[in-house]
Amino acid sequence: METLFQEQIISIPRIGDYAPEFKAVTTQGPINFPSDYKGKWVILFSHPADFTPVCTSEFITFASLENKFAKANCKLIGLSIDGLYSHIAWLRTIKEKIKFKGLKNVEVKFPLIEDITMEIAKKYGMIQPGESKTQAVRAVFFIDPKGIVRALIYYPLSLGRNFDEIYRALIAMQTADKFAVATPADWNPGDDVIISPAGSCGVAEERMTTKNGLTCEDWFFCTKKLDKDTVLSELIKN
Ligand code: BEZ
Repeated sequence: METLFQEQIISIPRIGDYAPEFKAVTTQGPINFPSDYKGKWVILFSHPADFTPVCTSEFITFASLENKFAKANCKLIGLSIDGLYSHIAWLRTIKEKIKFKGLKNVEVKFPLIEDITMEIAKKYGMIQPGESKTQAVRAVFFIDPKGIVRALIYYPLSLGRNFDEIYRALIAMQTADKFAVATPADWNPGDDVIISPAGSCGVAEERMTTKNGLTCEDWFFCTKKLDKDTVLSELIKN
């Protein structure tokens, strides 16, 4: 029984898996995931506890970026193992009292899931007992419009997330989908993108000998220009 319990706690959805379904009570009313989010990217993230400072700084940051994510067709959903009234009280306190990096009176308008039973947190591997048995770690799941997990990042309790990286990763994955390319280290819109490696000797030869608009360091490492405006006009809605 103990083994079964432990296995259940640490199961983590993998890249390429369908994101586990759930129904939840949230600060914005009930949600049914993923059916309420068809056609949208979703960032589902957990935090350890309400009324804690790192989490508070993260919520102010996420809330201030909600519109930016919405313009990239991405909805935010938060979760912690706290009850609804704690969530409501915390979000009210954030709006009324807390300033962070010049941001104040910030209203969190995206749903924050109450998960006191840990049912959803367990489905997403957000409880990592080596870190805490009673609080979720800082998980970030990127879920695409088909409900498939495309990337996941986990941080320990003490480490606040980097929101530039979360946004960059979202836009990079959307770019990969839209333009059938990959993105190199530290890519941002406007930087060159990577063409998939040559899959045959013929293509390898062609890559090195033909004028094809590509820049090839070698047959397996070719890039091409992808204009920032092209990326942004395809992905970002005003
Ligand atoms: C925080 O959000 O400040 C926090 C939460 C749990 C453990 C450590 C820090």
